[in-house]
Amino acid sequence: MEEINPIIQQKVPIQAINIERLKDCGVNLRMARLDRIHPLASGNKIYKLRPIIEFAKVNKYKQILSFGGAFSNHIHALALMAEQHDIESIALIRGEAKYAENPTLSDALQAGMKLEFVTRQDYKLRNDQNYLTDLQKRFPKALIVAEGGSSDLAVQGCAQMAHDINIDSASDFLAIPSGTGATAAGLSSGLAPRQKLMVYSVLKDESLKARIDSLLIANKNQYTLQNADFGGYAKLDKTMLYFILDWLDETGILLDPIYTGKMCRRVIQQIEAKEFKNGQSITLIHSGGLQGWRGMQKKVELLAGNKAWKKISCYIQND
Ligand SMILES: Cc1ncc(COP(=O)(O)O)c(C=O)c1O
Repeated sequence: MEEINPIIQQKVPIQAINIERLKDCGVNLRMARLDRIHPLASGNKIYKLRPIIEFAKVNKYKQILSFGGAFSNHIHALALMAEQHDIESIALIRGEAKYAENPTLSDALQAGMKLEFVTRQDYKLRNDQNYLTDLQKRFPKALIVAEGGSSDLAVQGCAQMAHDINIDSASDFLAIPSGTGATAAGLSSGLAPRQKLMVYSVLKDESLKARIDSLLIANKNQYTLQNADFGGYAKLDKTMLYFILDWLDETGILLDPIYTGKMCRRVIQQIEAKEFKNGQSITLIHSGGLQGWRGMQKKVELLAGNKAWKKISCYIQND
């Protein structure tokens, strides 16, 4: 009997990636299309949030409270998923109240999420124990979830992701972009013994390795960290934008500029630098994040014109 997947209840689509500049490289590339698996919380979000929402419901929390930037994929998905599961949501957003009008937070508000805007200074306290204790006093019925959903529950959900992606593929490497490290920790915990995980850090963040190690459930040495910050977290420059547009033309897959675009660009650099052996295979994980494009129209038009924006906007789904 076929196993029913408890989180996404379907198979992850796996797509072969054929790119002209890599045609003689001898490396077999494919992409796990997690961007296609859920209408409200695609990519890694469904895997992280599903166990958190279940935990909140079983333990009778009234709300889920979390933290994020003004264009946060996590906040967006949490708002939509919480609404669907009849649980209230609250977000502490870094920055000014004017951000409430952006597409990410407009969706969140429409889904019933309560937003509080905090200064950048206060936002830095988001993991401070005293700050969290005070917050819990203000919201006694809320389950407080760290930025990006990063938690043991999210890691368990992402271990399931490794299993889902591996069902009918046997890649030597899996590649995932990383922010807080929870997705990478979960994936690493769920890998087959011979496989290696490559974790692409999109931030200049010296603490990422320690954080992933502290979140790991198993398989401590199965990942390597790769730098993919390309000049900063949300910096979209012309080179990145044209890389994404070319990728879209060749594969029909839209990447996001903050996570998957950086990972794919770095993987290609590695392949061209012959860091992989002939015949090896890599599964790139599309971790979603496409909703974030909606705040970038002006930037895209400035860098590559209105046609480029039209092309991208055709592919944007509610992510
Ligand atoms: C689209 C996308 N990819 C990857 C990540 C990185 O996930 P993590 O924070 O678990 O490292 C995020 C952030 O949650 C994200 O929004």
